[in-house]
Amino acid sequence: MQKYSNRLKTENKSVGFVPTMGYLHEGHLSLVRRSLKENDKTIVSVFINPTQFGPKEDLARYPRDLKRDERMLRKIGADTVFYPTAKEMYPKPYRTYVNVDCLTDALCGRSRPGHFRGVTTVVAKLLNIVKPDVAYFGQKDAQQAIAIKKMANDLNMNVGIKILPIVREPDGLAMSSRNSALSPKERSYATVLHKTLLLAKQMVGKGERSSAKVINKMRALIRQEDASRIDYISIVNPETLKPIKTIHGEALIALAVYIGRTRLIDNLKLKVR
Ligand code: PAF
Repeated sequence: MQKYSNRLKTENKSVGFVPTMGYLHEGHLSLVRRSLKENDKTIVSVFINPTQFGPKEDLARYPRDLKRDERMLRKIGADTVFYPTAKEMYPKPYRTYVNVDCLTDALCGRSRPGHFRGVTTVVAKLLNIVKPDVAYFGQKDAQQAIAIKKMANDLNMNVGIKILPIVREPDGLAMSSRNSALSPKERSYATVLHKTLLLAKQMVGKGERSSAKVINKMRALIRQEDASRIDYISIVNPETLKPIKTIHGEALIALAVYIGRTRLIDNLKLKVR
C-alpha cells in the first residue's frame, strides 16, 4: 500500500481516502462518491480495528462481508480497497498509541474508555500508510470527527480532514453498520434517536434555552420505547465538547442509546441566534 501511495505521489495524482470498518452502507458510499469527485484516486480501507473495542464490546459481533463491500465499491468506481489484517497493523509487541486529550473524555469516551485512543491510533497509522491528500469521515461520529481533526492539526499531519453530513434512512434512522444487528422490532424502536433530536430542535426553535429542560424531555421520550436504555444525552459546545447549560450560538446535541444489545449514536448541530 505504501509503495502504491508513493507511486501515486510521483505521478502527481491526488488521493482521497475513506477509512471504514466495512459492512458498507449509503453513509460510507456518500464519502466515497465525494472523494471520487474531488480526487484523481480514491482509496477505501476496510479494517475492523480491535484497539477501539473494549473487552465487553461487540468486536466479535461486528458485521463483516468483504466480498459485499468490494462489490459495492466496484459499482461506484472506487479505485482501491486496502484491507490489512490485525497482525499487520499491530505487529507484536505493539507499543505506540495516539491520544487526543480532553476532547475524548466526555460523551462516548466516558462509557467507552480507550475507544478514541484506538480510533486515533489506527487513523494515524492508516494516514501514514495511505498518505492521502484528503481523508473523509461522517458527522454521525461527531466526537470521532473532532478528535481526528485535532490530531491531524496537533501532529502537523499533511492531510485535509473533511466531515460530511449524516446519511439517514427514510424514517430518519442514521445509517450505521450496527443497524444490521437490530431485530425488526428493535429496528422500529431505533427511530426514537432521531425523533428525540427533532423534539430537541423543536423545543429550541420555540425558544427553550435550558439544556436541562431539553434533555429531560428527550429522556422522557426515549423511556417510552421498550428495549431502550440511555447511555448519555448531552448538549455541548461543538468545538470543545464541554456541556452547555444555556443554549446559544452553536450547540451539538449528541446521544447514545442501547436498543436491545446494540448501541446506537446520533447527533444534531444547532445554531441559535
Ligand atoms: O468510523 C469508523 O468506521 C472507524 O472508527 C474508523 C474511523 C474507520 C477507524 O477505525
